[in-house]
Amino acid sequence: MTRIVVLISGNGSNLQALLDQSEAGQLGGQIAAVISNKADAYGLQRARDAGIATQVVSNQDYSDRAGFDAALMQVIDRYQPSLVVLAGFMRILTPEFVRHYQGRMLNIHPSLLPRYQGLHTHQKAIDAGDKEHGCSVHFVTEELDGGPVVLQARVPIFADDDASTVAERVQVQEHAIYPLTVRWFCDGRLVMQQGQVYLDGALLPAQGHA
Ligand code: GAR
Repeated sequence: MTRIVVLISGNGSNLQALLDQSEAGQLGGQIAAVISNKADAYGLQRARDAGIATQVVSNQDYSDRAGFDAALMQVIDRYQPSLVVLAGFMRILTPEFVRHYQGRMLNIHPSLLPRYQGLHTHQKAIDAGDKEHGCSVHFVTEELDGGPVVLQARVPIFADDDASTVAERVQVQEHAIYPLTVRWFCDGRLVMQQGQVYLDGALLPAQGHA
């Protein structure tokens, strides 16, 4: 069974969606550990409640990004994962780290990539007057929030929305598409090769047009 390590920094609602899917026997893989860079991340409690091993690797214990990433890599690799899932892991990763997990690391980002990389994506979409917003699951590459998109979900933005109402609507979709994508990977249906994504052997059309 595919071994999965999940990295979090906070609430862990996406982690919860994965745990629920696993509990239902529908994840197709086994969550071997949940690792956080923040000791007080609520997601760690969610993992403990589900009987999953947890680890904290605090970025504050390292003077530079390279040192932190090297330590994190060591802890992750103890669990020998075939898949690393970033679920609200709010750290920029070094190229060395990304290369090490090339083709086996997924991220969920709260926008319709390539629109709105980085932070404050919901406010950016509102400020731009967008009528539509959403979330994207993508393979992680060295380009921040720039790896090939696997799946997106779209939600409307209404006139009386603010960033928090939009975030809530987007998160409902995140919790649907992330477990589904992880399942595809675990079942061997989803592969990234030379920067391109294949589902069931067919090249996925590049998604996400600005
Ligand atoms: C999610 O909305 C995820 O898309 C976002 O952080 C949130 C984590 O929520 N990730 C990023 O912004 C990554 N750049 P959660 O801790 O409740 O899963």
